[in-house]
Amino acid sequence: MVAIRLIQHKKGAPGLRWLGLGPDLIPCRGLLKLKSLLEKHAFWAKGRTKKQLRRLLAGSSVVVSLWHGKRMVGFGRATSDGIYRAVLWDIVVADDLQGQGLGSKVVEALLKAREVSGVERVYLMTSNSASFYNQLGFRNVGHQQLLLFDRI
Ligand SMILES: CC(C)(COP(=O)(O)OP(=O)(O)OC[C@H]1O[C@@H](n2cnc3c(N)ncnc32)[C@H](O)[C@@H]1OP(=O)(O)O)[C@@H](O)C(=O)NCCC(=O)NCCS
Repeated sequence: MVAIRLIQHKKGAPGLRWLGLGPDLIPCRGLLKLKSLLEKHAFWAKGRTKKQLRRLLAGSSVVVSLWHGKRMVGFGRATSDGIYRAVLWDIVVADDLQGQGLGSKVVEALLKAREVSGVERVYLMTSNSASFYNQLGFRNVGHQQLLLFDRI
């Protein structure tokens, strides 16, 4: 049985972004695999092109991916100013491996990463997984509103 490996990429994930590197820095079309993972499991991230995903990775302070052999089975990222505010984005686990603690591992790795661990507040937005984040220490916020300036 192949173990699931968690990779914490360098800031901006240059190896994944430009060379599609997976575990042990082996090229394995990682960007295409990220595209497929998001396409299948992240309703908010469908239709993103490889070029757009490169930009997204370049603009991320922390990037984490999960691998089962050469298959990408999980992903998550964070943006951060390194001191006051960070936001988690695009947290996803392949549906056949959900419910085994992998999503929690992705979130914990993002929270522990240097760029995020020192910030005052970590935010995230979710439509249907609030209780998943609640058991990881996130609380629902009643006194603030989520505002949106929409370009799509
Ligand atoms: C949300 C997601 C990342 C969770 O990953 P996972 O690997 O299944 O999570 P875990 O196994 O670590 O779950 C830990 C706990 O959260 C619960 N949980 C998992 N997903 C949940 C969800 N969507 N809503 C409520 N609770 C959830 C699990 O039942 C588990 O509880 P338990 O420890 O009492 O059994 C995964 O379900 C997913 O990729 N969903 C589709 C994409 C998505 O909606 N992502 C969230 C975007 S904000």
